[in-house]
Amino acid sequence: MSISVGRGEIFGFLGPNGAGKTTTLRMLTTLLPIDEGTAIVAGLDVGRSPREVRARIGYVSQLGGADELATGRENLVLQGRLYGDDRDTVTSRADRLMDALDIAEFAERKVRTYSGGQRRRLDIAMGIVHEPEVLFLDEPTTGLDPQNRANLWVQIESLRDRGTTVFLTTHYLEEADALCDRLVIMDHGEIVAEGTPRDLKREVAGDAVVVSVHGGHEAARRAASLLEREPYVREVAVEEEGLRLYVEDGAAALPAMLRLLDAASIELRTINLSEPTLDDVFLRQTGRSLRDAGPRGSETAA
Ligand SMILES: Nc1ncnc2c1ncn2[C@@H]1O[C@H](COP(=O)(O)OP(=O)(O)O)[C@@H](O)[C@H]1O
Ligand SMILES: [Mg+2]
Repeated sequence: MSISVGRGEIFGFLGPNGAGKTTTLRMLTTLLPIDEGTAIVAGLDVGRSPREVRARIGYVSQLGGADELATGRENLVLQGRLYGDDRDTVTSRADRLMDALDIAEFAERKVRTYSGGQRRRLDIAMGIVHEPEVLFLDEPTTGLDPQNRANLWVQIESLRDRGTTVFLTTHYLEEADALCDRLVIMDHGEIVAEGTPRDLKREVAGDAVVVSVHGGHEAARRAASLLEREPYVREVAVEEEGLRLYVEDGAAALPAMLRLLDAASIELRTINLSEPTLDDVFLRQTGRSLRDAGPRGSETAA
């Protein structure tokens, strides 16, 4: 595989369980030897300068690495100290981070007592307490409820906005779509698609527009024959009382379609624009749905 990630990007590594996401991440973070090829992280060769790479990155594993018997604050301070920062610097950073990530309230409680969302936020704080240039997150929101997930997305975006490069894996399509500036989709250790979520989805077949009209099948056919001549329409299919079209750019096409139908006195009943999802991209590349590709909730520790 060959990938490059720009500075200050949120880059997503999307794929079903077992695709090889964790394995790749562990190679990039010096935790697994690279047996073929090279990787450059933060401008340094991972194989040749592992110590220097480690000093510039943060890594949050799928399971996190907090000490259950220590408090949140103790974990954070220890982590920062391990990177060589002095106690005062680390303590003030820890306080700031705990505020930002909403964990200050239970800073003095043992991690053992944390909920899933609290623990995940602490994991992330531990990954960034030494202010790394590149942050690696392995499935940061797996197991979290929607509210905690959305909260974490905001945190990750604000890291990016402050200049940190974020490289994350996920098997959640919505997460990759909502959060990532660019992404690759992995399957069986290989990249099957790469690009911005928007471009990837557009490559599939354009946007789908479903139109239903008054006047039954006859009117639908008339609408179809008008629309299929339009340059932005890729495909038209006449259905029961309406038609389904694939268009280049739905938001741009919609007004033009409405004007055309109006001028031909074809009366609309409903019009519905739906964008393809990343699952459509995966489906097209692999012949199966990502939602069905791996057993949900059965990830193993890696
Ligand atoms: N390129 C590869 N070639 C052979 N085996 C691989 C490769 N990548 C991953 N594996 C193996 O596949 C299994 C699942 O990989 P993992 O990286 O944990 O996947 P994911 O994190 O995407 O669920 C592991 O046992 C790993 O050793
Ligand atoms: Mg994994």
